Amino acid sequence: SQCGACTVVVDGHAVKSCTIFAVQASGSDIMTIEGLATDGKLHPIQEGFWEEHGLQCGFCTPGMIMASIDIVKRNGKKVSEDVIRRELSQNICRCTGYHNIVAAVQSAAEKM
Ligand code: FES
Repeated sequence: SQCGACTVVVDGHAVKSCTIFAVQASGSDIMTIEGLATDGKLHPIQEGFWEEHGLQCGFCTPGMIMASIDIVKRNGKKVSEDVIRRELSQNICRCTGYHNIVAAVQSAAEKM
């Protein structure tokens, strides 16, 4: 439960999937990174990571994106850098130094 790479959205809230049992999710609405793009079009958060180069190796990226969806949903278009950094502190990236990840989330928030 340290890295956040397995984060999914359960009933609208970002959850580290390694912290819950499958039976606890029974009947819940679960969104994974695989379900974000629709009809071949990337979700705005995915576009933000693409456009702002918010990744390097990509290991953390699914969890970052899923956590970011929840952050933007709760904080709106004008989500601050401080809020993004604080909330994404539960997701570890070994590569990027977070600067471009924050830019990606802010860019996406404007489009959502
Ligand atoms: Fe490599 Fe985040 S891009 S761990």
